[in-house]
Amino acid sequence: MVFERKADHIDICLNKDVNASQNYWNNVHMLHKALPEVDMDEIDCSIELFGKTLAAPIVISAITGGFDGAEKINRNLAEGAARAGVGLGLGSQRAAVEHNELAPTYECIKDYDVPLVIGNIGAPQLIEQKNKPAFGTDGCKRAMEMIDADILAIHLNYLQEIVQPEGDLNANGCLEAIGDIAKEMPVLAKETGAGLSRDIAQDLRLKGVKGFDVGGLGGTSFSAVEYHRAMSKNEETLARLGETFWNWGIPTPLSILEADVGLPIIATGGLNTGLDAAKAISLGAIAGGYSRKLLAPAMESADAVEKELNMLIAELKGAMLLTGAANVDALQNVPVIVTGILSEWLNAMEPEG
Ligand SMILES: Cc1cc2nc3c(=O)[nH]c(=O)nc-3n(C[C@H](O)[C@H](O)[C@H](O)COP(=O)(O)O)c2cc1C
Repeated sequence: MVFERKADHIDICLNKDVNASQNYWNNVHMLHKALPEVDMDEIDCSIELFGKTLAAPIVISAITGGFDGAEKINRNLAEGAARAGVGLGLGSQRAAVEHNELAPTYECIKDYDVPLVIGNIGAPQLIEQKNKPAFGTDGCKRAMEMIDADILAIHLNYLQEIVQPEGDLNANGCLEAIGDIAKEMPVLAKETGAGLSRDIAQDLRLKGVKGFDVGGLGGTSFSAVEYHRAMSKNEETLARLGETFWNWGIPTPLSILEADVGLPIIATGGLNTGLDAAKAISLGAIAGGYSRKLLAPAMESADAVEKELNMLIAELKGAMLLTGAANVDALQNVPVIVTGILSEWLNAMEPEG
């Protein structure tokens, strides 16, 4: 059942090792400026994103909704995001569109003044799957209305689908289906831990998406999450798949370069500090996205979420001072140095332009 799965994901993400083996942010460095010539009090880290103003270039990337306990998490995230002035993405809303009694676990965020609200629906559900009809435009509109969303994230999660027992494995026609939704409402294409490559970003741009959340490799691995679920259910083949694909994907920093096709990029995937967001912005993103980092604080309280967000912002501003960047535009132009395994990836990929 989908509700049970969502509760499992939270439990596993809090209690098991679900990290990709490598965190590629360790291979990205910013050049220290010994004379930054900037006053910390004057650093402006606000941004415009999808027509909204955020106090800092930070987005809480999709976590949850749709089961007992999700309302508390989403309320804490929304209150923290509203207080810190950052964006908030909700977890997949399909269950609540199909079972209206679950809608309050998402709707509750409307009680808070969150500057940017991002809805969430899975791309595999936009096309017909075995015994399941396609989830059409009306369902997406309902998802948007449910939370007064500013934009809908359509998540791409075929890595997870191959490892989960209830996986939706038909991927034919997904791009067209995303294009159909993008004609009706603002859409963001979002990966969930395996990253976006240039050709996919270009295809999606031509279909009218307004931006990307690259959701790259280096943080939470959904193959790992599903591995743990499979192990607990003695699903040998799925556990094997989960183990084999644990580190599958495109490293987040590289995915930012790949997805840079002229649309705003949220960089999610393995960001642990505000310094990581600064690195992501220097590589071309407009904001850093954090998912699992905020899960434990969200289990606790809105104060804990706000505290963590403020620490991330303090770290980000520290990096801005040390690189002489008075605002986010300037931060995007700070030089970065790529080393180690990521530099090997970069040389092998030879991104164009
Ligand atoms: C518990 C949990 C549930 C998630 N559920 C969703 C989801 O419903 N929809 C989605 O697009 N991404 C979902 N994600 C993926 C994240 O948004 C993000 O892309 C991924 O976790 C990588 O970021 P991280 O390394 O900061 O955790 C989920 C992540 C976590 C940790």
